[in-house]
Amino acid sequence: MKKLTRKITIITGAAGGIGSALSLRFAQEGAIILLCDLENTLGKELEEKIIQDGGKAEFFPMDVTSEKDWQKFIAHAIYSYQRLDVLINNAGINIRKPIEEMEVEEWDTVMRVNVRSVFLGIKHTLPLMRKQKSGSIINMSSICGLVGHKYTPEAYTASKGAVTLLTKSTAVRYAKYGVRINSLHPSTVRTDLVNKMLSDPERLKERIDEVPLGRLAKVEDVVNAALFLACDESSFLTGMSLPIDGGLTAY
Ligand SMILES: NC(=O)c1ccc[n+]([C@@H]2O[C@H](COP(=O)([O-])OP(=O)(O)OC[C@H]3O[C@@H](n4cnc5c(N)ncnc54)[C@H](O)[C@@H]3O)[C@@H](O)[C@H]2O)c1
Repeated sequence: MKKLTRKITIITGAAGGIGSALSLRFAQEGAIILLCDLENTLGKELEEKIIQDGGKAEFFPMDVTSEKDWQKFIAHAIYSYQRLDVLINNAGINIRKPIEEMEVEEWDTVMRVNVRSVFLGIKHTLPLMRKQKSGSIINMSSICGLVGHKYTPEAYTASKGAVTLLTKSTAVRYAKYGVRINSLHPSTVRTDLVNKMLSDPERLKERIDEVPLGRLAKVEDVVNAALFLACDESSFLTGMSLPIDGGLTAY
């Protein structure tokens, strides 16, 4: 049986490595996917692929840091579907510079994309989810939102830490309205976000050696965890930070 039949599901950063895997799998599980990304061509291609495979999807080119874009998108979503079941705040970036070398504008950019987008996504979906008395919001943090990670720039780590506590604080405030809010914390997954860095064999070795289970995370590992948090099997979970890290944050 499909796990997400007709669940209206928003996925931001849908055209990226994790976002596209989430979109394809959630569509296979019966969800109607609202794909959000800056990447027009990739977003359109993904929409077409899902529809060709027999699923349902609609692509919205948008900048998740723009409140105007969220307002327009949510108004359209409510008009078209009248409900919102799942929001995955997945869009994110990294600027690979240690704190001493980072410009103020670069710091602000990382914060804007990784934190402001999550704030806006939650802000604009909550009113309808409250009214429905149901909804599952999943925020994509990282292992870097749980521990200081020595290989990762501080701006990224600070932004993902903010996502962790934004998740917990909104989860406790809105639990009484039936809305669940959780965060996911993957270790390194091979996507465009890290491909350049992993092309250096030394960096790749570092990233594998730090994981007790001895491998990188796979997109499927992240997708399976998101699927669990999206569907009713996790109905008693809220405010949780779920590591998908082969034990990396356990020591
Ligand atoms: N890949 C990893 O190792 C890893 C590990 C832990 C957490 N994460 C997190 O997972 C999420 C997805 O990462 P990924 O690895 O798939 O990266 P990715 O670079 O493959 O995809 C990110 C997507 O977000 C989109 N995006 C960026 N800024 C945007 C904006 N302002 N508006 C709309 N869309 C925007 C990009 O166009 C891209 O399609 C991110 O939040 C990332 O921080 C990734």
